[in-house]
Amino acid sequence: MFSLRLFSVIATAFAAVSALPTQNETLSLGGSCTIKEFSQVSSVISSCTNIVISGLSVPGGKTLDLKLKKGTTLTFEGKTVFGVAHWDGPLLQISGEKITVKGASGSVLDGQGAKYWDGKGDGGVKKPKFVRVKASGGSVLTGLHVLNCPRQCVSVNSCDHVTLSNWNVDVSAGDKNKLGHNTDGFDISSTSNLLIENSVVKNQDDCVAVNKAQHVTISKLQCSGGHGLSLSVGMSKTSAEANVVKDVHFVDCTVTNSDNGIHIKTHSDGAHGTIDNVSYKNIHLSGIAKFGVNIQQDYENGHSTGKPKNNIPITGLSITGVTGSMTGSNSKAVYILCASGGCSGWNWGVSISGAKKANSCTHQPSNVKC
Ligand SMILES: *[C@@H]1O[C@H](CO)[C@@H](O)[C@H](O)[C@H]1NC(C)=O
Ligand SMILES: *[C@@H]1O[C@H](CO)[C@@H](O)[C@H](O)[C@H]1NC(C)=O
Repeated sequence: MFSLRLFSVIATAFAAVSALPTQNETLSLGGSCTIKEFSQVSSVISSCTNIVISGLSVPGGKTLDLKLKKGTTLTFEGKTVFGVAHWDGPLLQISGEKITVKGASGSVLDGQGAKYWDGKGDGGVKKPKFVRVKASGGSVLTGLHVLNCPRQCVSVNSCDHVTLSNWNVDVSAGDKNKLGHNTDGFDISSTSNLLIENSVVKNQDDCVAVNKAQHVTISKLQCSGGHGLSLSVGMSKTSAEANVVKDVHFVDCTVTNSDNGIHIKTHSDGAHGTIDNVSYKNIHLSGIAKFGVNIQQDYENGHSTGKPKNNIPITGLSITGVTGSMTGSNSKAVYILCASGGCSGWNWGVSISGAKKANSCTHQPSNVKC
């Protein structure tokens, strides 16, 4: 009788996990695939494929490094708090193939940004970057609540076939006394086949910044407080391959109370490169203080030089269904500074009201109304 009952308990336990458990998971059913202490991380992630991280405190100066086994499902529960230390980070790194990472309802990843913020971002006291995602193979990361990034929030780097959905990246507390700075929402580099959808970013820098990527869709993203939907291309001074953004599409997004709606910049001191087949479609703007649409080919060392170059031509750019309004005395709906021969083959449908300054455009394609 006893052994029969034990058998049925084990059978029920087996039925409760979706994937076939590994030997170790079988042994550890009953809770040890749940991480509650930092010291448990490496043994659990090396032996389990169905993992819960519950109310974890990560010591300052350490990365919560989740190198997950193929096919792993990991769920964050409760508050994951990252201790304070003055280093580069990242605080959290998630990597793996075909992984599913979920934030349970009410869960938070707390970077404790307020303990670092000094209004100087990458300068000032040393601050860690927060989340780095390096996943592939149809991985899905969903429902993560990223709170109070010390500086850059989420780096999507070297990903292929990955979906990020229902993220809430909230650095709005950094608006207070303008202390939050360089708090980019999603930075995308060396990535292909990425979808970011149904997500919210409240921050003080780019909502999204794409550096190097192909086949990316950003859909239903709500941005506020920051610098808008950006491409920044030409960071590499030596490799034309590193300076490519191609087939990147923003659709059904809103940008509110931000410096820019859409911002495309190429680095005139970078190597040659490509921006091709990029579209912004159905983007609604409100409370934009500087530029509704800003496209500039004159960026160098973090500054506009006013001297555009065509080392990174912008071709096949489609900006349609971009509507909304500006605010404040410095507002300009459209600013385009292309080099001669630097911009061609654009679709244009921009209607932005309320700007205080006149549009200005240089070497824009002839169909672009300015
Ligand atoms: C099970 O876990 C132990 C300790 O974490 C590890 O040494 C062992 O290699 C694992 N065995 C398998 C089959 O994964
Ligand atoms: C532009 O990108 C889309 C989506 O990735 C793709 O379907 C389309 O073929 C591309 N168009 C060109 C001209 O490359």
